Amino acid sequence: MGVKRSIAVVGAWAAMLGFAASAFAIELPSVPPGVFETSAGCGCHGEFRDQWSRTMHSQAISDPLYQYKLAKGNEETDGAIGDFCETCHSPAAAMWGELGRDPSDFSPAAAEGVTCDVCHQITGHTEPVGNVSLEWTPDGTKRGGLMDSFSPVHATEFSPVHTSAEFCGSCHQVIHPVNDLVLEGTYTEWKESPYADEGIVCQDCHMTPGPGVTKPNPGRVGSGAPEREHIYIMTFAGGNVALGDAELAEERLQAAAEMEVLAPDVVAPGEAASVGVRITNVGAGHYLPTGLTDVRRMWVELVATGPDGESYEIGRREFHTVFHDAEGNAPAEIWFAEGVESDDRIPPRESVEEMWDVTMPSGPLELNATLYYRSAPEEMAEAAGVDVPTTTMTQTSATVFTSAEEAAENARPGAPAEEVAEGLAPLLLVTVFVILAAIAGVGAYFIMKARRS
Ligand code: HEC
Ligand code: HEC
Ligand code: HEC
Ligand code: HEC
Repeated sequence: MGVKRSIAVVGAWAAMLGFAASAFAIELPSVPPGVFETSAGCGCHGEFRDQWSRTMHSQAISDPLYQYKLAKGNEETDGAIGDFCETCHSPAAAMWGELGRDPSDFSPAAAEGVTCDVCHQITGHTEPVGNVSLEWTPDGTKRGGLMDSFSPVHATEFSPVHTSAEFCGSCHQVIHPVNDLVLEGTYTEWKESPYADEGIVCQDCHMTPGPGVTKPNPGRVGSGAPEREHIYIMTFAGGNVALGDAELAEERLQAAAEMEVLAPDVVAPGEAASVGVRITNVGAGHYLPTGLTDVRRMWVELVATGPDGESYEIGRREFHTVFHDAEGNAPAEIWFAEGVESDDRIPPRESVEEMWDVTMPSGPLELNATLYYRSAPEEMAEAAGVDVPTTTMTQTSATVFTSAEEAAENARPGAPAEEVAEGLAPLLLVTVFVILAAIAGVGAYFIMKARRS
């Protein structure tokens, strides 16, 4: 019973946007109760369960930031938007006809959001990829990427879709159901990147231990399972330090970007200097940041410290998406979004530069650049009752001098530490060699002497 989904457009809210219909939803098939089990049923995979329980997938419904936006969306659209959101955040709730209920009234497996069994009974996807373009065959058989799997408790089957980016992209590509505007474009961002050409899929970075492609990762997929050369794990870590696995999220954020301070070496006092930063997306297989980028906040701050020791901000640039509504008002919430007002994020393996002018003081000017990330702005976090920390992704600095002499003078204290160490290394080797030779010589002398006597 492979099942297809379609989008029906109806609704008062749609009418508000200038459409004739009066509510809309992503349509998934109805399935009998009980076809999806809770993660408690996956006891043989204890380690995977621990990993998954710390992910955003396990919180896709309980997530207070999600619940805050869902409530706001429903309030502003007379309840028309909710079904759309919930279908992706809990496909089981949609298939069981539980949409619109209070989450406490969801069946236990539906309340688990993007839970194990929802993912492991998927059998295919439809085109175009996005808005839950997935097919299920909920017959209890667990599908995954292993060709040789066997379980004494449930049927297993190899499923090629599980090894594809389309599997993830079916939910990580959110399209406005009325006007087709891309609200979250992680899948297409990846599809158009060099990673897609190289065959590096989402699973390679998000279901392996390190921040990049950490393969092979030897291990067992459950108790009693054989040791395999490579297994994927259920960590799905992204940038959510507040609600996800903080350690894994920080590790990914700190591996995502490289930054350089751009500044001339020497500028005369009183002259204008053009200084700035170059940031390269070296680690993310999609734009940086990606996903819900009207909410995510990534920004760089360039701070100068003059000869008097006083620090001041030279410039700041944000990297996110701003939507506008039908009347051109920006920023607009995703449900009212009609177009992109601005999008200044960083494509995969590409760089952006930002320059500012500064007047050179009478002495050296130290420049410190810091790249920060937060999952949500402070006001939203506060309103949702979540403590969202700011993570430092990377930091770097440079100094501009007022003259070549000053630069040469100041270059000395910085350089020596390394130079001295480098200069000492051969000296140390020679010393060790001389001592060893002396010991050998003395030893040989005594051995000879002993033999003669
Ligand atoms: C977001 C969807 C998703 C969720 C949630 C999820 N998995 Fe997986 N899981 C996958 C995918 C995709 C693979 C296969 C990756 C590959 O082979 O490329 C996989 C692999 C596995 C495997 C190994 C077999 C294989 O195909 O490599 C087991 C066992 C497994 N998952 C169990 C679980 C358990 C238990 C949970 C919940 C605690 C869980 N999964 C949650 C998507 C998911
Ligand atoms: C080359 C490794 C790599 C690949 C491939 C990759 N990612 Fe990522 N992803 C990262 C890194 C690093 C981060 C953390 C930086 C960030 O937030 O963008 C990240 C972040 C994310 C986030 C959180 C973004 C946020 O800020 O809220 C999501 C969601 C995500 N990835 C999904 C995907 C999906 C879906 C795919 C496949 C279509 C994919 N990723 C492919 C490395 C990768
Ligand atoms: C059924 C839909 C669905 C599927 C399939 C799915 N995801 Fe997700 N994913 C979500 C939702 C919804 C969230 C956000 C939950 C929240 O934050 O409330 C999410 C969150 C994430 C995050 C965390 C982002 C952060 O901010 O830290 C990562 C990483 C991620 N998914 C990766 C993947 C990868 C990789 C795959 C494919 C193996 C995948 N997802 C498949 C729906 C899905
Ligand atoms: C087709 C799937 C899909 C639909 C529909 C969808 N989302 Fe999501 N949502 C996601 C994915 C995937 C993520 C994770 C992206 C990321 O980490 O940036 C996410 C993340 C979020 C987050 C961030 C949670 C956090 O902890 O940072 C909020 C808030 C959210 N969604 C609200 C909504 C609302 C409100 C709607 C309805 C207007 C909605 N979503 C519709 C897939 C979907």
